[in-house]
Amino acid sequence: METPGKEEISVEDEAVDKTIFKDCSNITFYRRQKQQLSKNNTYRALLDTVTTGEDSTKFQIINEVTKIPLLAEVYGVERNIFRLKINEKTPLKPRYEVPDVINKLNTVRLISCSGDTGSLILAGGERDLKCHIIANPFKIELISEEEVVISINSLSQLYFEHLQIPHKHRATTEKEERVSAGASQLKKRIKKGKESQEDLGLWEEKFGNFVDIKANGPTSIGLDFSLHGFEHLYGIPQHAESHRLKNTKDGDAYRLYNLDIYGYQIYSKTGIYGSVPYLLAHKLGRTIGIFWLNASETLVEVNTEPAVEYTFTQMGPTAAKQKVRPRTDVCWMSESGIIDVFLLTGPTPSDVFKQYSYLTGTQAMPPLFSLGYHQCRWNYEDEQDVKAVDAGFDEHDIPYDVMWLDIEHTEGKRYFIWDKKRFPNPKRMQELLRNKKRKLVVISDPHIKVDPDYSVYAKAKEQGFFVKNPEGGDFEGICWPGLSSYLDFTNPKVREWYSGLFAFSAYQESTDILFIWNDMNEPSVFKGPELTMQKNAIHHGGWEHRELHNTYGFYQQMATAEGLTQRSEGKERPFVLSRSFFSGSQKYGAVWTGDNMAEWSYLKISLPMLLTLSITGISFCGADVGGFIGNPEAELLVRWYQAGAYQPFFRGHATMNTKRREPWLLGEEHTRFIREAIRERYTLLPYLYSLFYCAHVASEPVMRPLWVEFPDELEAFDVEDEYMLGNALLVHPVTEPRTTMIDVFLPGPNETWYDSKTFAHWKGGCTVKIPVALETIPVFQRGGSVVPVKTTAGKSTGWMANSPFGLRVALSTKGSAMGELYLDDGHSFQYLHQKQFLHRKFSFCSSVLTNRCADEKGHYPSKCVVEQILVLGFRKKPTSVITHSSDGKDQPVAFTYCARTCALSLERLSLDVDADWEVHVR
Ligand code: NOJ
Repeated sequence: METPGKEEISVEDEAVDKTIFKDCSNITFYRRQKQQLSKNNTYRALLDTVTTGEDSTKFQIINEVTKIPLLAEVYGVERNIFRLKINEKTPLKPRYEVPDVINKLNTVRLISCSGDTGSLILAGGERDLKCHIIANPFKIELISEEEVVISINSLSQLYFEHLQIPHKHRATTEKEERVSAGASQLKKRIKKGKESQEDLGLWEEKFGNFVDIKANGPTSIGLDFSLHGFEHLYGIPQHAESHRLKNTKDGDAYRLYNLDIYGYQIYSKTGIYGSVPYLLAHKLGRTIGIFWLNASETLVEVNTEPAVEYTFTQMGPTAAKQKVRPRTDVCWMSESGIIDVFLLTGPTPSDVFKQYSYLTGTQAMPPLFSLGYHQCRWNYEDEQDVKAVDAGFDEHDIPYDVMWLDIEHTEGKRYFIWDKKRFPNPKRMQELLRNKKRKLVVISDPHIKVDPDYSVYAKAKEQGFFVKNPEGGDFEGICWPGLSSYLDFTNPKVREWYSGLFAFSAYQESTDILFIWNDMNEPSVFKGPELTMQKNAIHHGGWEHRELHNTYGFYQQMATAEGLTQRSEGKERPFVLSRSFFSGSQKYGAVWTGDNMAEWSYLKISLPMLLTLSITGISFCGADVGGFIGNPEAELLVRWYQAGAYQPFFRGHATMNTKRREPWLLGEEHTRFIREAIRERYTLLPYLYSLFYCAHVASEPVMRPLWVEFPDELEAFDVEDEYMLGNALLVHPVTEPRTTMIDVFLPGPNETWYDSKTFAHWKGGCTVKIPVALETIPVFQRGGSVVPVKTTAGKSTGWMANSPFGLRVALSTKGSAMGELYLDDGHSFQYLHQKQFLHRKFSFCSSVLTNRCADEKGHYPSKCVVEQILVLGFRKKPTSVITHSSDGKDQPVAFTYCARTCALSLERLSLDVDADWEVHVR
């Protein structure tokens, strides 16, 4: 079969076609749950069945209509986490439980205490946390310090469709009769509602021309959670939506179903490339999380009941007033699997981040180069093109680290095989980049061209490594190469084999400067239902694709990262960018927000999209700078570079048929602004790299919504047009055309904020008007922080290894400041295995700046010096400044002081970054 032409892939041509993608009304498990739940749907816990084991407490719950028992298990998990699992007590066959996502956990034994006859109280863990199980109707309350924080099933939305034997095979048993009694009641009700049986989607479901035949029948599950006192919820990426979750009462629920939606609509709850079924709720004094571990299609409803004040007039002469706390109800519904939910009890945002990463892992420590700027385009046509673009950066004095090659670098979209016409000598090209201390990233998608002469295909076929169709043959669908089969990454053997394809001996003409981009891994199947794989395709272990759809891309990135690590015998850190992701993907690399458009609104929405990813564990994230689809006007491109320079993953990318837009093509002035933005990024790398270390070891997101840093400040809870980069920098990218003035909210009444360019300062807790020109990137440093930087930008990170540092010290109202620097070789795992790293702590207190070791375990001799120190907020001109080194030597240093801005500047210093020293300002 020929490679499909662009016309055939017309789905990728225009804006989103609504007939291709479902909304909630087309999702039958959603409709079934809604209709059933509007009727009496009570469950009762059978407390006489309670058993308490080492790990968990188990008991049965039954549906009052069908009388079929479910089995509930409550676990205490280390770090103040509760886990609730609900499954059928005796399912016809095992139901899917998501493997490979959760780390090995230590459980905490829960002790059952008192409770009356109708309830049971479980306590355990370090803090005053209790789990109160109420028998009839079944409900669980999570109590902290005598206050109910979360109640489960208080709205009776527990929903469980039991596995049934298909009609054609059945000899009816008593249990099945009860199950089908429930189903036929539902059918009757729906018939009354003038819907046909088929519309229920019990055994098959139609959408457009697609029919989903369900071998296991209806298997959906659901459960509600009431979050008491909470009105602010965040999380459940990926949606092109606001950071704060919206009420879904009058519209679609948030959908978690990984889909390839070209030019996705913004402010929409439809699912796009990745899913993290995890949300956080925040109120003054407490942050909590709910992690719904399910990889099938999932919908989340959110409904906030605001606080109300009731007045009781019948209570006597003085009317009694009662304030009812606000509450947000969240209902999770999944097409399949079991109920397996983790309650993260906080109480601080930082506790919740640690709890979540205890479950799913922390952000992988990226190689330093990957925090530089990446230059991508679909496509850099050939070796000449690569050479010219690479040279263009040097000619225009713009730093960059990574050149990217899209699908056209392969021979007929056969990944791992170079197109020798375009790239006759890939090694030579890589040597050119290596000499420039730069890297190459190439794309490797999960679909494999059906071609017996293509060794990857032939070997995978021979070993049975493709996803199967229900008839047992290899699943085949259309993607870039034409007819393709899809590797079954859920199979550990397939992952092992695939990892091996990245070995230098296997991947012809690959070198150690080549890294990988996994795309189209939702997976994208051009002529499939909703452009993805049919749900009844079969994976390793006989599981239907429906059960695990949202983890397909997660597994590919896992195998790719493993492959890159293995090719260096475990020595070098991988870099893998993936479009699709799931909870835990942070362990394997970076993600981006897919096919956005070159429009201002997409620049704007990239902020909440990245903030949401960041707080759900995925710190290494970015959006295509410039917008993938369309041609950005010069101003938009500049603004996008400025925004991207302060975001974790920084890559310019554009689709085919767009105008070339390398940073120097838009006229001298615009080139200058882009150059400045990229250079600013490079000078900031020590800070950014240190933040990644902090994400890696301490689970703190790199990019943080304001509410995370200012959890006690109500006004910060809704902000999404600015954010914190670490705890020191507040960034407010300009996202509107022709902006000359912006309103910047500076949080914290006790904070001081400094404009990082003009050094103007403000007291926090107010909104200030900031004039902006096209070259302005509104960035503010928080008083009390020290930001380590490089004093100059080099051609790439590789050229900057030994270049000097600067420290930007911004004093708090008390005249103090603190900050950290993390440093290592930037590429290997020696920081981990040999503790070859340097972790320094800078503090400014009583007019003395000290450099001290922050972690005695680490050693990494560095040739670098601190060359410049800038102190902002220093109130009076010093009379002298003296450096004091650990060998007792004192040395006076020259300084300049600006009384207007209160900025003290020390230049031409030569203080070893890895040694203890002090700078005394008198
Ligand atoms: C879709 C990706 O989202 C895009 O970034 C890429 O350029 C194309 N696929 C072609 O590989």
